[in-house]
Amino acid sequence: MSAITTKKHANGLEYVNVDTPLCQARIFLQGAQIEFFQPKNQAPLLWVSSADDYQAGYGIRGGIPICWPWFGMHSNPDWPQHGFARTRIWDLTSTQILESGVELNFTLELNEEDTRYWPHHTQIAIQFILNNTLTVSLINTNLSSNTVKLTQALHSYFPITDITTLKAKGFEGAKYLEFGEGPFKQHNNEVVFNKETDRVYTELGQIQTLETPEGIIEVSRKNSRSAVLWNPWIDKSQQLSRFNAEDYASMVCLEAANVLEDAVILAPHETHTLTTQIRWKN
Ligand code: BG6
Repeated sequence: MSAITTKKHANGLEYVNVDTPLCQARIFLQGAQIEFFQPKNQAPLLWVSSADDYQAGYGIRGGIPICWPWFGMHSNPDWPQHGFARTRIWDLTSTQILESGVELNFTLELNEEDTRYWPHHTQIAIQFILNNTLTVSLINTNLSSNTVKLTQALHSYFPITDITTLKAKGFEGAKYLEFGEGPFKQHNNEVVFNKETDRVYTELGQIQTLETPEGIIEVSRKNSRSAVLWNPWIDKSQQLSRFNAEDYASMVCLEAANVLEDAVILAPHETHTLTTQIRWKN
């Protein structure tokens, strides 16, 4: 039996609780942010900082925050980093019990403040398909008669028992920018972690893996021409909000994205769907 129920966190934020024979999940209406996903008989696939206190108005530090309609800093430094979608309350518009798993759809109605940031007539929706795999799609439709340009990321946080044992694979031949420098060409297939890492990859394949002695997480992307690989390491961890100083050792972000020169350009009435699919491979 599958159950989809709406609940309230102790700090007041509402979330959708999903309990099915194949998985358990929690999706907060704020940011349509999935904060927990665990396939049956397997370990959780998403990481959340124990320092987060689930306050209204702040994206949760973990799970999958949605970066939209821009990724990173805006050219106007007063505007929020990674856009505003991750802190807004989304509407749960439909749910469906599928033969295998469940489907949940959310949309975001822009308020007056949002339209200052984003004066375009567009529709943004997010779809979750949950079974023993987590599939998340961010769907943008241009409802206007002008071309619209946006950047975006599904900013997934993954649990890693010990970052020094992680091998992130699937990067051979890709290009990346890091700390404002590059593009560099990645010659080997894997990335290991021993310092702050904050790379925007382009020209990479559609499947990457996060491999540790505890297991292999497979992350695949569709309609995503970029991917971001991030670990703040020791110094930056001390500056991050809702993050413990030692958290860098137990997480990594690998984000399905369209950023920089891979920005999405939507012709009038065009729809674009960015998808990431996440599962334990073993
Ligand atoms: C990553 C960026 O995607 O997000 C990093 O590449 C940034 O530079 C990180 O620090 C976290 O951003 P925020 O706004 O959630 O603290």
